[in-house]
Amino acid sequence: MHIRKLTGLFGAEISGADLRDPACFDAIKEAFIQYSVIVIRGQRLTPDDHLAFARRFGPINVNRFFTKLESHPEVALVLKEKDQKGAIGEEWHTDHSYDVAPATGSILHALEVPPHGGDTVFVSMADVFESLSEPVRRMLRGLSAWHSSRHVFGETQGNSEAAQSGRIGNAALATQDVLHPVVIRHPLSGREGLFVNPQFTTRIEGLLPGESAAILEMIYAQCRKPEYQARVSWNVGDVTMWDNRATWHKAINDYHGYRRYMHRVTVEGCALQPAQA
Ligand code: SIN
Repeated sequence: MHIRKLTGLFGAEISGADLRDPACFDAIKEAFIQYSVIVIRGQRLTPDDHLAFARRFGPINVNRFFTKLESHPEVALVLKEKDQKGAIGEEWHTDHSYDVAPATGSILHALEVPPHGGDTVFVSMADVFESLSEPVRRMLRGLSAWHSSRHVFGETQGNSEAAQSGRIGNAALATQDVLHPVVIRHPLSGREGLFVNPQFTTRIEGLLPGESAAILEMIYAQCRKPEYQARVSWNVGDVTMWDNRATWHKAINDYHGYRRYMHRVTVEGCALQPAQA
């Protein structure tokens, strides 16, 4: 197995591994914890193989809103047809941050990719946190923020292209509002990292709306700097697993007129602890 870093800060590409082989697992888990995003090239996983790999990390979290693979409801479809405009996940976000126990990680397997574009970009939230000044870090460690699924997957989304085309559904289940620390202690690496994101975080608890918006924007402006980002280009067969407690991601929607089809399996997580208890 060969591991090559994607950037100076995080992300790694793994070649020479077979995700169906349990003997590869310990090294892959170690890479996941160390690099936060791992790209394992050249896999051909059946849905059962995909699920078996995911279950080595923990129980599966079945996404309430994504369309499921009929034969395997634990597998969510991430699909954009060639005549559709919007892509699933094209806003910066952290999967499942609206859950009480946000998911450990998501595992995306590319089955059909466009001839160009369709990359996924990630942000390292521990590296962004470490880039801030100590007085700001101290202030953020004392804060908590609300996250919600309502405005993204709820009834107000009924007219969206994603809902109309059946790619997302179950709007009635978008009832989660949950408070998480703004700075968490990562459950596996022990590293401090920011846990807020533009799509699901609605406000910082106890602050005036303007204060909350200004602090979130200060964090987000740092996240948008390419220094803290890693970009993954896909080939058919690739598997990328990302750490939802350590990263944001965004699907780049620049391949209009082509189909992109992925299977996603998400691993259950745990309640998050503040960096400073
Ligand atoms: C997602 O947000 O889960 C999808 C990411 C992608 O399609 O690249």
